[in-house]
Amino acid sequence: MTKGIFITFEGPEGAGKTTIIQMIAEQFDNVLLTREPGGIDIAEQIRKVILDKGNTAMDPRTEALLYAAARRQHLIEKVKPALDEGKLVFCDRFVDSSLAYQGHARGLGIEEVFDINQFAIEHMMPDLTLYFDIEPELGLKRINSHSGREVNRLDLEKIEFHQKVREGYHLLLAQFPKRIIKIDASLPLEEVFQKTICIINERIKNL
Ligand code: TMP
Repeated sequence: MTKGIFITFEGPEGAGKTTIIQMIAEQFDNVLLTREPGGIDIAEQIRKVILDKGNTAMDPRTEALLYAAARRQHLIEKVKPALDEGKLVFCDRFVDSSLAYQGHARGLGIEEVFDINQFAIEHMMPDLTLYFDIEPELGLKRINSHSGREVNRLDLEKIEFHQKVREGYHLLLAQFPKRIIKIDASLPLEEVFQKTICIINERIKNL
């Protein structure tokens, strides 16, 4: 058992979770804010390979294994030590991204992708997962209007892929109703922020 609290932020492209996670982190003390894939040097190097727009030949299983490898290194090098110190860890994406993107949208199977991830995470699941829900059309429109945000290999997928990602998250919501809480990310930012804070405070109180 670790002393800290592990909270992950999930959602399709353009749900605004990266903005929200920063606003939320400012409200708490003793926080580690990090992201996947990446967050530490080795995992950032893997991120470059996975998201490189030139890597069009990448096989879906290779993609799933690379995400799992980046996850493992990040968990061991950064997340677990912070939890052991009693920190509140906010992570932008974690295993549910692999289940929704590689498991469901790529068609590898949610169970199969969960299995390879168990090898990587050794059952270290989040205490709470906030899922920011948005229609893919709206999410992608938001990304395209953001100047400065990198456009990666997965952003370039067809709209059907992004619809499948959302469908995958909805399957996960049904599978893990206690751990994953849905937030409507199409609402104004301030409203999304307030709802998110309330859910986190409530969960921390009841842990
Ligand atoms: P980001 O845009 O939130 O930084 O995430 C990078 C991309 O990687 C995004 O398109 C989602 C995708 N992704 C997966 O497909 N599987 C994963 O396990 C993770 C962590 C991210």
